[in-house]
Amino acid sequence: MYVCICHGVTEKDIKKAAKAGAQSLQDIKQATGCATGCGTCADVALEVLQNAHSQTTPEFLKILQPGTQWKEPTAA
Ligand code: FES
Repeated sequence: MYVCICHGVTEKDIKKAAKAGAQSLQDIKQATGCATGCGTCADVALEVLQNAHSQTTPEFLKILQPGTQWKEPTAA
């Protein structure tokens, strides 16, 4: 599925960039050119990126990713 019509970027391209380390929309822009034209694809691109990470990274490892902040567990 095409995410970015301006630059011909597909969902697969974004997932590939995510696998290669893209963590933010800015990373996706640099890796693929997505969202650097009209910008209307930015929200969908970010959603695809977030889905790619949630599918490829087990929840317990997300704390180890750059940009993730530690949250103290709350008592029940
Ligand atoms: S559709 Fe992606 S920049 Fe225009």
